[in-house]
Amino acid sequence: MKKYLKNILAATMILSMTTALAACGGSEATDDKEDANADGAENTGKQTLILATSADFPPYEFYEGGEVVGIDAEVAKAIADKLGYELKIEDMIFDSIIPSIVSGKADIGMAGMTVTEDRLESVDFTDSYATGIQSIIVKEDSEITSVDDLLAEGANHKVGVQTTTTGDAYTTDDIEKAGKGTVERYNKGTDAVEALKAGKVDCVVIDNEPAKSFVEANEGLKILDTEYTTENYAIALAKDSELTEPINKALNELIEDGTVKGIVDKYIKAE
Ligand code: ARG
Repeated sequence: MKKYLKNILAATMILSMTTALAACGGSEATDDKEDANADGAENTGKQTLILATSADFPPYEFYEGGEVVGIDAEVAKAIADKLGYELKIEDMIFDSIIPSIVSGKADIGMAGMTVTEDRLESVDFTDSYATGIQSIIVKEDSEITSVDDLLAEGANHKVGVQTTTTGDAYTTDDIEKAGKGTVERYNKGTDAVEALKAGKVDCVVIDNEPAKSFVEANEGLKILDTEYTTENYAIALAKDSELTEPINKALNELIEDGTVKGIVDKYIKAE
């Protein structure tokens, strides 16, 4: 009996040692993360990597059967698998992603998020894994035919954007502040598209891939041939996070071995 107890004790000690070692091997688990681990979706004993996203942005992140899927969700899952984390996706409005990373509620942000000087003041970014283009959606019979029409002297259009996106930043500077029109800001890109359909705005400035799926899903809309800007998408992390280096390394390995391309090709059909 005593021997039996002893064996159990020894086994428990080894177990707790391995757990402690595993904890050391992992990243700097924040307090919030430990909370998340406590009520983690699956009890795998793995540490949780919390992804903040805004699942209103096909094909990067969107809902399919109650689940967040898309390029970002799959790349994040591949990174988490590589580093031995359980991935937990937190869906929120785009505007909340950076604050949730800064406050430590989320570990990474992936949301077709463009690297910008402004954002680099509050977060770090990995290397880029995709590019985006700011496109312009109009009604099929719109008199707006190019970016130049929006930026012309004397222009006065109402532009719809998703709040705090780069589309918002550019049009606020180039159009609103330049006195060439007004910018209407919506929590979701789809809300901006609804406003366009309802005639509340004259165009929507948004990234090209979601623009394509919104136009496909709605009659009477088209994307203008001209491009507003080209930009780089990357993963956002807290400033000086210990996760930046391992995540960037994992991301680059997944780019080099073709995993990222395979995921992109699954969601974006070549034209
Ligand atoms: N690329 C743009 C930006 O970074 C738009 C991203 C919007 N993403 C989303 N999931 N709604 O500002």
